[in-house]
Amino acid sequence: MTFGCSSKLSSMILFTMLFASLMGASEGGNFLQDFDITWGDQRGKILNGGQLLTLSLDKASGSGFQSRKEYLFGRIDMQIKLVSGNSAGTVTAYYLSSQGPTHDEIDFEFLGNSTGEPYVLHTNVFSQGKGNREQQFFLWFDPTKAFHTYSIVWNKQRIIFLVDNIPIRVFQNLESIGVPFPNKQAMRIYSSLWNADDWATRGGLVKTDWTQAPFTASYRNFKANACIWSSASPCTSTSPNSVQDNVWQAQELDAPGRNRLRWVQQKYMIYNYCTDLKRFPQGLPPECKRSRFL
Ligand SMILES: *[C@@H]1O[C@H](CO)[C@@H](O)[C@H](O)[C@H]1NC(C)=O
Repeated sequence: MTFGCSSKLSSMILFTMLFASLMGASEGGNFLQDFDITWGDQRGKILNGGQLLTLSLDKASGSGFQSRKEYLFGRIDMQIKLVSGNSAGTVTAYYLSSQGPTHDEIDFEFLGNSTGEPYVLHTNVFSQGKGNREQQFFLWFDPTKAFHTYSIVWNKQRIIFLVDNIPIRVFQNLESIGVPFPNKQAMRIYSSLWNADDWATRGGLVKTDWTQAPFTASYRNFKANACIWSSASPCTSTSPNSVQDNVWQAQELDAPGRNRLRWVQQKYMIYNYCTDLKRFPQGLPPECKRSRFL
């Protein structure tokens, strides 16, 4: 059998299309399949056949969504475009959390600001119900002008927070010195947009300007390379065969990663619980003594 030029070309095209669609299936999430709007009635919307999700806040209520699946370790990426203009008083929370009084939680919270003033990115890690591990940052871009990628890498050794793939925070597993680490409770992905003008912007001094409502944040390109948890099977991988998609399992910072983390922490970090001696007069939490990069 001989292949003519055109059939070779068309089989190549077919192969490329097949390959692209397989990649698409293993990579991307669809909001219609993976999430439920759980709060705020019509203020949360899934659009474009599941490619886009928007949350909004008005004087009556905010809104929120959560993932259908629960995860126990993984890398979760989400692109978010935050409330633009005068967003003072609004908070967009994006986090992983388990349930119950001894829950674990990994938090990104974006505190809005007056027009032209910078957002604050607030982070925290709860293990077995205990948080108090805040670090806050300014961003090196305006998070309202375009979508940016916010990622959580969560494996057995550490949690890495990344913004556009730049590590901003690492929380190491230090169970060996008695610091609980989130590794037993599966978590869902949550996000909500709400009014927190009693504390969010300059400690509650700047109030939400309701003439600007509704306030809207947008989400796209959700991606989970993760273990989906169920009582029958603690880990069903979302990408069982791809080496690249499973890099998160042993991910740590290499030398360039450590340099970037240092850059962020030196130039953009505005609060670190690990240096707040006033707050911990009896001594800093044990994890703070271990690493320069917490
Ligand atoms: C808002 O901007 C002010 C002044 O630039 C800054 O001090 C503050 O940290 C910013 N963010 C919030 C959430 O208040």
